[in-house]
Amino acid sequence: MEQYVIKGGNPLVGEVEIGGAKNAALAILAASVMTDDTVTLENLPDVRDIGVLIHAMEEIGVRIDRINRHSVKINASNIHTLSVEYEYINKIRASYYLLGSLLGKYRRAEVAFPGGCDIGSRPIDLHIKGFRALGAQVEIEHGQILAHADKLVGGHIYLDKVSVGATINIMMAASMAEGKTILENAAKEPHVVDVANFLNSMGANIRGAGTDVIRIEGVRRLHGTEYSIIPDQIEAGTFMFAAAATKGDVMVKSVIPKHLEATTAKLAEIGCEVEEFDDAVRVVASKPLHSTHVTTLAYPGFPTDMQPQMTTLLAICQGTSIVTESIFENRFRYVDELSRMGADIKVESNTAIINGVPKFTGARVDAPDLRAGAALTIAGLAAEGITVVDDIYYIERGYEDFDRKLASLGAQIEIAYSEKDIQKFTLKVS
Ligand code: UD1
Repeated sequence: MEQYVIKGGNPLVGEVEIGGAKNAALAILAASVMTDDTVTLENLPDVRDIGVLIHAMEEIGVRIDRINRHSVKINASNIHTLSVEYEYINKIRASYYLLGSLLGKYRRAEVAFPGGCDIGSRPIDLHIKGFRALGAQVEIEHGQILAHADKLVGGHIYLDKVSVGATINIMMAASMAEGKTILENAAKEPHVVDVANFLNSMGANIRGAGTDVIRIEGVRRLHGTEYSIIPDQIEAGTFMFAAAATKGDVMVKSVIPKHLEATTAKLAEIGCEVEEFDDAVRVVASKPLHSTHVTTLAYPGFPTDMQPQMTTLLAICQGTSIVTESIFENRFRYVDELSRMGADIKVESNTAIINGVPKFTGARVDAPDLRAGAALTIAGLAAEGITVVDDIYYIERGYEDFDRKLASLGAQIEIAYSEKDIQKFTLKVS
């Protein structure tokens, strides 16, 4: 099994390029089956989850040609089944987007019940509620979700909870329904807007994405398009926090600073200097950092996908911090691993009480999920001595060349495939 082996202590210094947003890309890839014309996508991140979705789409007959590492041409005119059976599809959360897109175009879709990171129970009742409101029948049998309809008709849908996935899924299906759909209490995340922009570039009629009321006028047909995916705000935020944790100075490039406001505000609050440019953000941590309080919220609040990185950073800031996780109920599983590295964190229900310690000390830790894996890597970069992060499979689901990008900023990090590799690395850096 692959592991990161890290010798901590080097401040990260330099510039790093951020790739396309994984969560936008997954939805946009799925939405590209909604036309028989060719769709060209650029700025697609080369990460495992994208690879799994591409494979699943190819299995149902979608033709996907790689132009280069980050661009593909997609043609879905020869789909031969509406049942997605690729064996790994239930490992990713975003498999559910094929329900919305296939249901919208073909009035039928069958996809395995979605998996994804184990960060709490992750129901899809709101997706189903939305599809039903558009006139579809939805059944869950033998681990599969089957959605079908004779016809889809626009409706008035109120989401009981703000859900990124449900908002995007309903938006996709409603784009090809008859008449008007009004989606209230919609998620406002940048990737919701990106998917709406993508669908509109295919001829859809969606207004209000980015606010909590989205209005969709269904169209009969969508056409081909060329589209470039927005930068990944979570990858950007992760590098910003890595810079802060290592007392570094990093220019995070190719980002939309507006999307990073919650992250930027918290870094500034604890004592980092954060400078914003048109498409870059520079983080400098030259002074001692101190505690704060954070609650994860839907956008524009502090993102739950940055919570493990935030908690990790606060664990080595002066004073007592409190982090409250309000989106997923089981998102502090990595705290035990951080404790092995010397962190002093107590978790009570959905709240972490963090007593800052002067430093982490290297240890062997397990990445329990994608973002927690990135956070443990940050801890390793800031720690004294050697850290081994096991199960980096999770990290590779959402970060492209994470180790190489960190190494280009001066981190001592390598991928190890065996105990021997770890020993070699330890010898080299000692
Ligand atoms: C997406 C992201 C994930 C991110 C999350 C919140 C993808 C592939 N994943 O996940 O990285 O952490 O948004 O920003 O884009 N809920 C329900 N019923 C539903 C759907 C959701 O109760 O039908 C609840 C969830 O349990 C959770 C909250 O709503 O408490 C928000 O979840 P949601 O925004 O849907 O997250 P995902 O789309 O799964």
